[in-house]
Amino acid sequence: MNTPTWAQLVNLAVAVLFILSLKGLSSPKTARLGTGLGALGALIATVVLFFTGIELNNFALIIGAILAGSLVGWFSARRVKMTAMPQLVALFNGVGGGAAGLVAVVEYLHLGGEGSALFSLFTVVTIIIGSVAFSGSIVTYLKLQEIMTTRPVVLPAGKWITILVALGTIASAVWLFVDPQMWVVLLLSVLALAFGVLFVLPVGGADVPIVISLLNACTGLAVAASGYVLDNVLLLIAGTLVGASGTLLTSLMAKAMGRPLTSTLFGAFSGTTQGGSATGEERPVRSGGPGDIAIMLGYANKVILVPGYGLAVAQAQSTLRELADLLTARGIEVDYAIHPVAGRMPGHMNVLLAEASVPYEQLKEMEEINPEFSSTDVVLVVGANDVVNPAARTDKSAPIYGMPILDVDQAQQVVFLKRSMRPGFAGIENELLYDPKTTMLFGDAKDSLTKVVSSLKTM
Ligand code: TAP
Repeated sequence: MNTPTWAQLVNLAVAVLFILSLKGLSSPKTARLGTGLGALGALIATVVLFFTGIELNNFALIIGAILAGSLVGWFSARRVKMTAMPQLVALFNGVGGGAAGLVAVVEYLHLGGEGSALFSLFTVVTIIIGSVAFSGSIVTYLKLQEIMTTRPVVLPAGKWITILVALGTIASAVWLFVDPQMWVVLLLSVLALAFGVLFVLPVGGADVPIVISLLNACTGLAVAASGYVLDNVLLLIAGTLVGASGTLLTSLMAKAMGRPLTSTLFGAFSGTTQGGSATGEERPVRSGGPGDIAIMLGYANKVILVPGYGLAVAQAQSTLRELADLLTARGIEVDYAIHPVAGRMPGHMNVLLAEASVPYEQLKEMEEINPEFSSTDVVLVVGANDVVNPAARTDKSAPIYGMPILDVDQAQQVVFLKRSMRPGFAGIENELLYDPKTTMLFGDAKDSLTKVVSSLKTM
């Protein structure tokens, strides 16, 4: 069916909106506008479809599904905590991939395998990538939500099972060209779903976000291929944009973790990402009270603040800023050190500190701040763990081995604000907590910071 010229022009404008949306997302200042432009584009694209003369059966069902999906999306996005955002992204992304896969299955069955060879090829590609993105994203959701372990899960003979399932998926895809039958389509879908699960299970700890980004790119590709299947140019464009940006983000995140993507994805099979577990053995640590920490900070010349996931959990960003302002007012040099994967999503710490109106100039990226630690009197680590763990440099068996870290161990003194000796996201012990130059202040970060601020005010 030919799309009317007016609709083609609107679609072109929507494609431009999508591109402007991505451009807007490249800076925190314009990100909100970028999100709005993307949403507006998606809304226009959906509405236009109803007026292009395509034959719509089940009109009530379509409207009902749109309403139900929009309501679920609206409420879950409004209610989600900032710290649980990656899980939500994983879930939404998985649903997108699953939808593309389902559409391809239905379209294939609809034509009964009568389409051109190219049509069949794109259908098969959509089913495979869409199914992998769906089941893989569900496993990443379960891991991030800590419904299942965040550590790599390596099944006995898992490598061989995965290879067999991958070969089975390819074989059933080829079989579909020879004998286009419904049971082969279903077999292909089931095998691709199983491959998604087997592919993500061995990825653990700090590598999970990279896989989310990769699966996001996969969903983009599945949607692009489904654009061909459905003869919808906009799906093709939007899918390609998501696929390309997701691939770039994956590569940037792998770079930030300091190792090749292949080792992130297949490391567990070769046994390179499974060690470094918490020993659970009791060892002495030095702890102090809020007054001690206030004295250390108040008489320093140079202080670096290292925010991490715990700052977001405690919602202590404003209190941290209050502390920074107090120290600055005493003539102390204060900076915030931002690690690229601190928290649970890219840019998490920047967003959090922007919420507390911390000036951007005070936020220093890892490369910029690392040379500063050796001349720093006190580093205050607030709810961070993995991003300052020296095991990333020394312990080849640690899941974070090779990830560049903030070199806080180079400072004169290090203070950790956390609730216990429990490890961070990667689930591994941090030797720095036991270092003689380290002082622990146990408790919720907001509570501890509030007490330190009060003590400082009395000094
Ligand atoms: P983590 O290594 O996860 O450590 C956070 C620490 O915060 C924990 O040790 C925890 O210790 C403490 N904490 C939690 N709630 C707290 C509270 N209310 N008050 C005080 N402390 C609290 O965080 P990180 O150093 O920011 O590193 C991030 C990790 O997450 C990396 O492994 C990264 O790869 C991974 N990750 C990153 C992303 C992105 S893209 N940023 C996405 C997903 C995962 P207690 O329990 O003892 O308090």
